Amino acid sequence: MKKQLISLAAAGALVLGLAGCATGGGAGGTGGEAEGPKPLDELVVGFAQVGAESGWRTANTKDIQAAFADAGIELKFSDAQQKQENQIKAIRSYIQQGVDYIAFSPVVETGWDAVLNEAKAAGIPVVLTDRAVDSKDESLYVSFLGSDFIEEGKKAGDWVLEEYKDTTEPVNIVQLEGTTGAAPAIDRAEGFAEVIAENPNLEVVASQTGDFTRAGGKQVMEAMLKSQPDIDLVYAHNDDMGLGAIEAIEAAGLVPGEDIKIVTVDAVKDGMQALADGKINFIVECSPLLGAQLVEIIETLNDGGTVEKRIITEETTFTQEQAVEALPDRKY
Ligand code: AHR
Repeated sequence: MKKQLISLAAAGALVLGLAGCATGGGAGGTGGEAEGPKPLDELVVGFAQVGAESGWRTANTKDIQAAFADAGIELKFSDAQQKQENQIKAIRSYIQQGVDYIAFSPVVETGWDAVLNEAKAAGIPVVLTDRAVDSKDESLYVSFLGSDFIEEGKKAGDWVLEEYKDTTEPVNIVQLEGTTGAAPAIDRAEGFAEVIAENPNLEVVASQTGDFTRAGGKQVMEAMLKSQPDIDLVYAHNDDMGLGAIEAIEAAGLVPGEDIKIVTVDAVKDGMQALADGKINFIVECSPLLGAQLVEIIETLNDGGTVEKRIITEETTFTQEQAVEALPDRKY
């Protein structure tokens, strides 16, 4: 992934004006002013996190905090508890404090233009991590670092397509959606729907948000088990909701992974353990380890360099057998 970040120091004097790249100014600049780099121990970055809704999020927070501590860069951190208004407040407070950079993972896709324009007016470059905003004005952020969620949904769909390729009967799928309006919920549903449309036997018979939490997944699954008599497969937009669904399925006297198959996204340790135990059938990885790349972006911008507008995280998928092998070395 390092290859996707272009450092001015490494690349000589090229790249300004390259399509798809953007410059930061560091120290309050919006792009390319001839201010020298600030010493790292004088840089201040404000990070507005979504919340602590899942194992993924906890791992993401720890990784980002550790990466900034290792780099010797001050990180101001706030937890929005899954509320957009809290995130907007945190970003405004970072603007007032005059931080050098702001990074955040938007709870939902819409409604960011006003506060991002305020950051722009204050000359503070913004880096999006993990989730996108749907803003038409791409000058409102320097770079977006994170997964391709549509691709993740497609990978989940590919497994389902293959698993049921010989089925002539209808396959009843229930979907546990992430937070309504969040990029991963929108995109994972879209990618999955696109792929399973290839087989008319595959049908999403119910779809509801579990807000990316284990409790939400359990509650929605309990209701679905009552309203949907014959569920063949659960597609959960993250491991935590899948783990909640497992609890509901077991409480209903059914065997997760056998009576009802389960496909999830993330590959955090608890999810991988359930996959290795045969309770989940397939997991699409979504890596929370964004800290080192975020630090690299900030350092590159601080040096007056350019970064790619979109940096996509490299990810894989896991079957049950692969989970058994991967678990001992899993970092999160
Ligand atoms: O935005 C990434 C998603 O948010 C993760 O898949 C989920 O676990 C988290 O809450």
